[in-house]
Amino acid sequence: MELQDKGYPKLQDPKGRKIEHAVILKIITTNICGSDLHIYNGRFEAPQGMQMGHENTGEVVEVGSHVERIKVGDICSVPFNVSCGTCRNCRERHTEVCLNANEELGFCGAYGFNLGGWQGGQAEYMLVPWADFQLLKFPDKDQAIEKIRDLTLLSDILPTGYHGCVVARVGTGSTVYIAGAGPVGRCAAASAQLLGASCIIVGDHNEARRDLVKKAGYEVVDPSSATPVADQIEKLLGTGSRWVDASVDCVGLECHGYGPDGSSENIEEAVINTLMEVTKPAGAMGIPGVYTNLDPGAPTELNKQGFMALGFPAAWVKSPTFTAGQCPVMHYNRDLMMAILWDRMPYLTPLHRSDLAGTGSGGLSNLQ
Ligand SMILES: NC(=O)c1ccc[n+]([C@@H]2O[C@H](COP(=O)([O-])OP(=O)(O)OC[C@H]3O[C@@H](n4cnc5c(N)ncnc54)[C@H](O)[C@@H]3O)[C@@H](O)[C@H]2O)c1
Ligand SMILES: [Zn+2]
Ligand SMILES: [Zn+2]
Repeated sequence: MELQDKGYPKLQDPKGRKIEHAVILKIITTNICGSDLHIYNGRFEAPQGMQMGHENTGEVVEVGSHVERIKVGDICSVPFNVSCGTCRNCRERHTEVCLNANEELGFCGAYGFNLGGWQGGQAEYMLVPWADFQLLKFPDKDQAIEKIRDLTLLSDILPTGYHGCVVARVGTGSTVYIAGAGPVGRCAAASAQLLGASCIIVGDHNEARRDLVKKAGYEVVDPSSATPVADQIEKLLGTGSRWVDASVDCVGLECHGYGPDGSSENIEEAVINTLMEVTKPAGAMGIPGVYTNLDPGAPTELNKQGFMALGFPAAWVKSPTFTAGQCPVMHYNRDLMMAILWDRMPYLTPLHRSDLAGTGSGGLSNLQ
């Protein structure tokens, strides 16, 4: 990683072709995501010279001649998926697999990844193509700045945590296990609350992160304990059942194993196998945690070849449902913005503001 002066961006696509549907944003906030850590840790391939940063919020400073709705001066959240708004998938609200945003792969574009060549926003300025379609404009500038530390979560981790819960079919009264108490796991816990879940359990080896979750009023389990996670969950549920209705993987390929000995080891299958164990028959699992077959640092030969050792045959009889992949941010970001602007998620802030509660890892903001 290094800091470079790349100059002010041009209104052009990654192949250098002029695009008039784009805008340039001056970045107000940009966060570091667990997905950036996979690149940083050498676990997700990225091309040399790529500019990092896919969680971006900024003020529009230049608009292309085809942009009609977005104006200079607007403060907008940028969904991390790059999407055209006109292809079949975008029209079906699957902006995470837009068919026009990644010429190499043929689908799936994102800023600051090996996904289409779109440069990231851990920078002063960034280019946003298809701006009329993609940008979420905040209705009031002063209010946006006042709530920017929560609104900054709309570019990725809040919709991602929410998506994980929605596809796991979290609803009124659901019991939920969320693996991982990083930013995505904590946003998933807040999302489960918004969706009406009853018992919300979050697991993480990291004690400081568990404390933050506990302080916010959720239950926690410790995967490094000698007591298996499934037994800890059974005790917390207190219903005699070993199963939760829904579960969400907010960890991904760098997950660690279990127990006092296993928890220092990276076992790529650890979380998904646990979700299959603790989710009730006919329950559902959300898997926003990232996995890839382009992983030079994978822990086993099988993983290096792009395969995983899953307990799928044993889980099959439980009629499992699982949904994996990137979050279609535009599916959720407007509604979650409204929830934040109307103070319907007051429990969100203490989960990521370290100055308010313990040890959170909130967004980096150049407003500070
Ligand atoms: N699908 C998407 O659209 C999308 C979007 C954003 C992030 N992500 C992914 O979501 C995941 C979480 O992101 P983050 O920013 O919160 O990452 P993070 O690295 O900050 O947090 C991951 C947490 O998981 C914990 N953990 C490790 N092994 C565990 C286990 N076996 N059980 C329970 N917890 C365990 C770690 O201690 C850590 O605190 C990452 O894989 C990230 O790439 C996906
Ligand atoms: Zn991210
Ligand atoms: Zn598209």
